[in-house]
Amino acid sequence: MTRPAIRKVCVIGWPITHSRSPLIHNHWIRTYGIESALYERLAVPPEDFVATLHRLPELGYIGANVTVPHKEAAFAALTRHDAVALRLKAVNTIVTTPEGLEGRNTDGYGFIANLKERARGWRAAAGPAVLLGAGGATRAIAAALESEGVPELRLVNRTRARAEALVSDLELRSARVFDWDDAAAALDGANLLVNTTTLGMKGAGDLDIALDPLPLGALVTDIVYTPLETGLLARARARGHDVVDGLGMLLHQAVPGFEAWFGVRPEVTAQLRALVLADMGETER
Ligand code: ATR
Repeated sequence: MTRPAIRKVCVIGWPITHSRSPLIHNHWIRTYGIESALYERLAVPPEDFVATLHRLPELGYIGANVTVPHKEAAFAALTRHDAVALRLKAVNTIVTTPEGLEGRNTDGYGFIANLKERARGWRAAAGPAVLLGAGGATRAIAAALESEGVPELRLVNRTRARAEALVSDLELRSARVFDWDDAAAALDGANLLVNTTTLGMKGAGDLDIALDPLPLGALVTDIVYTPLETGLLARARARGHDVVDGLGMLLHQAVPGFEAWFGVRPEVTAQLRALVLADMGETER
């Protein structure tokens, strides 16, 4: 009897050492008893990225995740995309289809799924959402929030022109751009505050925006998850807001890829969260 070929998937980035995707996917491979499957890290510098992408099938990969700095290059190099990747012009998940490699983007899905899991009473349609930042993650989150029915998106970014470019690129229907110094006006009457900047991450500066104008019923979340409780989340919790940390976005964005590659929709469990937290040297609050 011949052994079945190993179904390999990888995460491609540069650098890639700190990616927790192998921990997540290999946990699911074990949990669901997926035979002859393996999820690896692939460190690929930008100059080699496109060639590597096209060689994935011959290297034995049935799919891949793509992370910093390759998400836009992956979009450009592929000819097939799902609707979300097409809109964002960025790919974080690659799936082998009968027609060839297809680029998808599950970041926005992960963001929304995390809020739905951890803030069950929160409703997108209930009021404006404030996004701090205008980078790649902001794009995915803005598009996803709009699809969820947020009535108004308020973008606050240090570089105003970047936020304006984001709004016009994505043709966001209901977006308003605010100057960084005018964050208070953006927070007034909001139902959700999301930090999508790098501020608050270990080693980065602090996010020192005053929360006073934010209604106490607003949910506060952060895509930074190192540390798990950022300064923003600690301040929001102290004021009495519901808060959701960013780790769940990382866990949930992995779900659609695993399902597409291995045919099992995996669950984001407390056990998985604990595994990743332990790897980060963090503990649950
Ligand atoms: P990604 O694409 O991975 O989401 P990025 O493009 O590096 O990340 O975006 C980082 C975000 O953090 C940007 O919105 C950036 O603001 P600018 O567009 O003005 O650069 C924001 N950011 C980083 N450092 C900041 C700081 N010291 N003050 C305010 N915003 C900051």
